[in-house]
Amino acid sequence: MHEVSTEQLILPARAIRGSVQLPGDKSISHRYALLAALAEGTTRLTNFSTGADPWSSLGCAEALGATVTRTGVGAVEVAGTAGVLTPPVEPLDCGNSGSTMRMLAGLLAPHAGRFTLTGDASLTRRPMERVRKPLALMGAEITLTGGHAPLIVDGRTLSAIDYTTPIPSAQVKTAVLFAGLQAQGRTTVREAVRTRDHSELALRAFGAELDRDRDSVWIDGGQKLTAIEATVPGDLSSAAFFLCATMLFPGSSLVFDDLGMNPTRASLLDVLTGLGGRMQVLNLDEKHGELVGTVQLHAPEDGMRGATISGALAAQLIDELPVLAAIGPYTAQGIRIRDAKELRVKESDRIALVASNLRAMGAEVEEFEDGLDVPGGQHLHGAEIDSGGDHRIAMAFAVAALRASGETLIRGAESAAISFPEFFELLDKVAER
Ligand code: S3P
Repeated sequence: MHEVSTEQLILPARAIRGSVQLPGDKSISHRYALLAALAEGTTRLTNFSTGADPWSSLGCAEALGATVTRTGVGAVEVAGTAGVLTPPVEPLDCGNSGSTMRMLAGLLAPHAGRFTLTGDASLTRRPMERVRKPLALMGAEITLTGGHAPLIVDGRTLSAIDYTTPIPSAQVKTAVLFAGLQAQGRTTVREAVRTRDHSELALRAFGAELDRDRDSVWIDGGQKLTAIEATVPGDLSSAAFFLCATMLFPGSSLVFDDLGMNPTRASLLDVLTGLGGRMQVLNLDEKHGELVGTVQLHAPEDGMRGATISGALAAQLIDELPVLAAIGPYTAQGIRIRDAKELRVKESDRIALVASNLRAMGAEVEEFEDGLDVPGGQHLHGAEIDSGGDHRIAMAFAVAALRASGETLIRGAESAAISFPEFFELLDKVAER
């Protein structure tokens, strides 16, 4: 991030009540932005994410020849390039966004010319070999430095592959599918754990044909995309902070309208139910294949139980694990996380930062290579939190601070804007003190 670091003071709360309207889902916004750039015609999007990350995707779309116009709050139009992405003179700035860089690698691989993708210090530390490898098998020419950005794409003709992802990653799956869309032949991606399927649904929405069964998805190359009109569902991973905050205080309840309920993203709701929360889902609807609904959560009357999150569940909940760990001390039986090694290579090492910040608040916590044990029945006190410039760490500890004694200072609070600029303001609105 290029901004100055800011701090945010969080005071304890007594309850969470009211309703929140979430900005558009970050994952879906990325995909609509990038596919709109490739499509023919003008895509009109409402409730587009307000987070900086999807705006990095829009910025790249524009630099590649699409015309991006902000037409209102959350409203964006993207006039597509009808399949011809042109190398800009300047490097493509992906900011803090791993999704932008990895998905663009696949989208750009068959386009003529040289594309250089860069990002901020955090993004430059993140592993990119995971996209270079399958794309190279398709014939792509991608150069990294020590496995990291800058990621340089030299456009080549691509051939289809049948690829099994070695780690569960929707970004890797997407990079291969976006390349497969423009390759010769039928590309198949197989995954041991089904990751979020927004790319599959978005490709269909833009008119591509694509099929799938339980653990694989395949797409024929040479298909063209056509612009869409869409409203982006509310972001469930942003809602996660408010859902977890609600769980902290018996008697609390919160309503979320137009929330994305895609089954590959909604495991959090099951975990919260397992912890004792009561959930009502109303007005279920489908938009371009994405489920949307109104969710009301009531906190458990006699406190939260506990949970173990491992295996496929850990992969599906990867973005929600920091906040689940952060509320762990307030559960009865604790939160145990395993098989989540990927947390170490997100915007920060999220296992290390969750552990050190919980300890700063006086909690006992055990750190593992692939997870954490956060015992329940603990009392936390306010502390200074180091977000490490990671949006999800900043927001997770703002939630933990609500039930601590005394004040908590979140350092690097501006990072929340990566996915959720309205976070602190909305939290203030629904927290009763
Ligand atoms: C995302 C996939 C996940 C997730 C990230 C968004 C996506 O990353 O952590 O915030 O939109 O596809 P991985 O694919 O690296 O697991």
